[in-house]
Amino acid sequence: MSQYELCLESANFIRSIVDTTDAVGLVLGSGLGNLAEEIENPVVIRYQDIPNFPVTTVPGHAGELVCGYINNVKVLCMKGRFHFYEGHSMQTVAMPVRVMKLLGCKCVILTNAAGGCNPSFHPGTLMVIDDFINFMGDNPLYGENEDRFGPRFPDMTKAMDQKLRELTLRSAKELNIDVQSGVYMSFRGPNFETPAEIRFAQRIGADAVGMSTVPEILVARHCGLPVLGISCITNMAAGITGEELTHEEVQETADRVNKDFRNLLKAVISSI
Ligand code: HPA
Repeated sequence: MSQYELCLESANFIRSIVDTTDAVGLVLGSGLGNLAEEIENPVVIRYQDIPNFPVTTVPGHAGELVCGYINNVKVLCMKGRFHFYEGHSMQTVAMPVRVMKLLGCKCVILTNAAGGCNPSFHPGTLMVIDDFINFMGDNPLYGENEDRFGPRFPDMTKAMDQKLRELTLRSAKELNIDVQSGVYMSFRGPNFETPAEIRFAQRIGADAVGMSTVPEILVARHCGLPVLGISCITNMAAGITGEELTHEEVQETADRVNKDFRNLLKAVISSI
């Protein structure tokens, strides 16, 4: 089966359970899954029950699709995402975003935990992704192009939807939440970067580094789904403070800023 047909089969299964037309797609990253608790009238579908959907293996990542409403706006929320470092192909990692497109979602919001390389950031900073650097050495759009999703050579000049970015900065101001903007650079992982890699990332213009999101952005842009990305800077990247990095620190910071992150996302979703 082609990737399009695989996605269509997943979408048809989900559509047989819940109507997601015009929903806001949401992908919740490390430690941020509990926004899903605020979804009203939730319909929960386990990834393992969806045809062709892979299953997540990372602690802190549940494997559920939660459909419902946030402030009367329909959302289709992925509680837990797939990562390249888990051994999935890039196509598989990004596949749920294509499924969202087929399900009629009007945009997708991607969130992640990231390391800060911009020295003005601190653990807890929220960053709207303005642009990105794909340093994963792979691409979900490799291979024969699927014209039913989008063109062979998609433009990335305006990859991140400007209206959604502006809306996020405006909402943050209204809520008095400090939000920065910057460039997200994706590594393959699963190791945290070396200090030398972070110096490299800084020199080529990265403000934050992580191990996700770029595959989903590429696919969203390819199929014409407006995309917003927000990173939670959970730690300063390797070598900046001299401290060693741990997944526990990532989760602790994500927990600490959870309330702001949730409130910001809710405000953005309500105004879309
Ligand atoms: N590097 C890569 N991914 C991350 C980091 C980091 O420092 N923090 C959270 N996710």
